[in-house]
Amino acid sequence: MQNNYSLPPFKMKVIEPIHLISKEDRIKKLKEAGYNPFQLRSDDVFIDLLTDSGTGAMSHFQWGALMIGDESYAGSSSFFRLEKVVKEITGYRYIIPAHQGRGAEQVVIPLLVKHPGMVFISNIHFDTTRAHVEMAGARAIDSVCKECFDIHQYYPFKGNFDLELLEKIIQKYHKENVAGIIMTITNNSAGGQPVSLENMKAVAKIAKNNNIPLLIDGARYAENSYFIKLREEAYKNKSVREIALETFDLADIFLMSSKKDGLVNIGGLIAIKNDVAFFQQCQTRIVPMEGFPTYGGLAGRDMDALAVGLNEALEEEYLQYRLDEVRFLGDLLRDAGVPIQYPAGGHAIFVDCKEMCPNIPYDQFPAQAVCNELYLEGGIRAVEIGSLLLGRDPDTMENIKADAEFMRLTIPRRTYTQEHLRYVAMCVIKVFERRSAIKGVKFVYESPILRHFTAKFEPVE
Ligand code: F0G
Repeated sequence: MQNNYSLPPFKMKVIEPIHLISKEDRIKKLKEAGYNPFQLRSDDVFIDLLTDSGTGAMSHFQWGALMIGDESYAGSSSFFRLEKVVKEITGYRYIIPAHQGRGAEQVVIPLLVKHPGMVFISNIHFDTTRAHVEMAGARAIDSVCKECFDIHQYYPFKGNFDLELLEKIIQKYHKENVAGIIMTITNNSAGGQPVSLENMKAVAKIAKNNNIPLLIDGARYAENSYFIKLREEAYKNKSVREIALETFDLADIFLMSSKKDGLVNIGGLIAIKNDVAFFQQCQTRIVPMEGFPTYGGLAGRDMDALAVGLNEALEEEYLQYRLDEVRFLGDLLRDAGVPIQYPAGGHAIFVDCKEMCPNIPYDQFPAQAVCNELYLEGGIRAVEIGSLLLGRDPDTMENIKADAEFMRLTIPRRTYTQEHLRYVAMCVIKVFERRSAIKGVKFVYESPILRHFTAKFEPVE
């Protein structure tokens, strides 16, 4: 294992106790939760790797900023502080806060759907983005590069678009029917894999030639920018801020779940490069959906914490440590032979449970079964990103088979230490060693939409 992981550029000031409940209690709690980690209480979880969304730790500068939050309904000074920071980072003219990423999506996406039969194209749509596309009456089509699912093969930008396929999709549906192209950076569902600037520039050219609006779904744009600095020769001497600016310059609209690279527990953003008419349409919609345009569902203090967090997330010392902590966990697992999406992504390690448990059929959800084993092993909560998440085909009602059955070990920002991650690796390796004994799960209860949150299961005998 390489030993060049950078140290955390911070120390602890406030701590939150965590406890590992007994094995007997874990067995009982998982059963009560219907073998679905989403249904566990956090008190029964020792290390929570369900998501990196809103689960990070704020700095003392952010906690300090909370105190200057201006809770005025309209024209809050907190908004103007946030607006200034977002304008500096993106170079965009119009900024509207939202309560989180999906709040931004519900405002923007329907405005782009002009008639029936439209499609959005993304490298891979995140689930809520896909849901908003579909709720707006359009179709969500993915065009990710072929290297993406070749998990053992190193490729520096596995989040990239397949450019040929993108052009084919545009031709197939005709450019007038493409409501938007969405660049998801980093590409969450592919394993937090980055997208190169070269690839994004090519996508932007295609969008421009076809007169299609270009959006950035940039929940993890800072991690993506740092990957570019590390891996794209032409950018190695540029600062992360310069790379981010260049990225934003390609697109028309930026949507952000600020719960990731905003380093806050709640928040979202809509930023529009220069289309004032579109901005006004968003302002009109945001009022009934999220709130007045200068707070968009956030408290004044949330906006101040975000203004500070956005700048902290672009500090290169922090980003180096951030990518290193994820790589550290990935290296421990790879060295033990656990199949993971390689190289490590920016926010999570994705374990390939199809390869790990080839005996479990896709509709008995191998990754869900492995997540359950990991909880029993060490009180660790991970999340399934596979066929359970995908749901059923609306026409045939069959379970859709995912390209990959991943267990995502998602690392909250500035929250866990290397000791915690070593423990996680040890538990995953123990589960891996007894993989042939792991059984799939079957539904006891299944909700018609977003089933993974509320489903109840029992182990298959
Ligand atoms: N876009 C991406 C790429 C995301 O990863 C998420 C959320 C959203 C949009 C929606 O943002 O949660 O603030 O409404 N991802 C979280 C996750 C939930 O666990 O990956 P939100």
